[in-house]
Amino acid sequence: EKGGYDYFMLKEIAEQPQAVADTLLGRVGPDGLLVLDEMRLSDQELRDITKIIVVACGTSYHAGLIAKYAIEHWAGVPCEVELASEFRYRDPILNRDTLILVISQSGETMDTLMAVRHARDQRSRVLAVCNVNGSTISRESDAVLYTHAGPEIAVASTKAFLTQLVACYLVALYLAQVRGMKFGDEISQIMARLSEMPSKVSEVLGTVEPVRALARSLAAERCVLFLGRHVGFPVALEGALKLKELAYMHAEGFAAGELKHGPIALIDKGLPVVVVVPSPVGQRVIHDKIVSNIQEIRARGARTIVIAEEGDTAVEPYADTLIRIPAVPTLLQPLVATVPLQVFACELAAAKGHDVDQPRNLAKSVTVE
Ligand code: M6R
Repeated sequence: EKGGYDYFMLKEIAEQPQAVADTLLGRVGPDGLLVLDEMRLSDQELRDITKIIVVACGTSYHAGLIAKYAIEHWAGVPCEVELASEFRYRDPILNRDTLILVISQSGETMDTLMAVRHARDQRSRVLAVCNVNGSTISRESDAVLYTHAGPEIAVASTKAFLTQLVACYLVALYLAQVRGMKFGDEISQIMARLSEMPSKVSEVLGTVEPVRALARSLAAERCVLFLGRHVGFPVALEGALKLKELAYMHAEGFAAGELKHGPIALIDKGLPVVVVVPSPVGQRVIHDKIVSNIQEIRARGARTIVIAEEGDTAVEPYADTLIRIPAVPTLLQPLVATVPLQVFACELAAAKGHDVDQPRNLAKSVTVE
């Protein structure tokens, strides 16, 4: 049932191009506009929304952090992102014009479910992005956009995460469409780029062998740091979470701009630091800033592992290890940048002899608060 793979996690990583393609399937109507039947909220209701709060846990929360960039950039709606376990304990200001976007692979996570109930009690509308049909969260929400990742068995979320990103991009574009937003690229152009993503993810999967070798070489390390900016920041958080849960190593993700406000003190000789670099084309300014962040940490002895787009030569002098990913639009970069980090954590955990699919102390769906 593992389809020839050693672990479900490896199988699920390999299934990502298909999962992304399946989640994109049939979303565009004959007129080139998006049709999200499952939204079940009228266009008028979506036009009335004044604020979106994304609520989720763990990896799904990281998808939410990325959703915020897409929603604010494309749809122009103010968006906050909150951990479900914090959300209902802080008296959030909610009303009918607040849309709660909940993200949950299982649709059974207790903290997230409680957040849904709290939001509905306050008369907010709830749109759920779920992977499991008929799950409790999908039943209790006003609308559901299903991801089509198929069953995810490994405790560590991989293909569900990529499909959650796709679903969030679709929500952002749909909101942009109904709200008549004007932005540089037309929705159809972005959809065309999204439809290329399955093959871009396949491309990354075809080049991960050196990542596996790197992971094995780091099996004796005690700590790995992850840095990113813009949408690369949640990717860094996700890379760190994967390593914690699978390899039981201290791993932390930071916004690279925060380095000088504290974390740079952690940099020690030989400390592995993974840096997710934004596109030099789409994000020139932050690209250049992160290149200087890489220089700073390397000057202090860090071992730099740099994930950068093909053709980005500026990073070459400062990368002890360079992992190439295809050039894609900035907001979509997490779909390709996360993949090497999943492989990295999986391989490192396997090298340490851990149970990759069933890490200690963890459950696939957390049904207690
Ligand atoms: O089923 P959910 O998406 O609600 O689960 C949320 C988290 O428990 C989950 O993403 C967890 O963080 C994963 N084990 C991460 O790999």
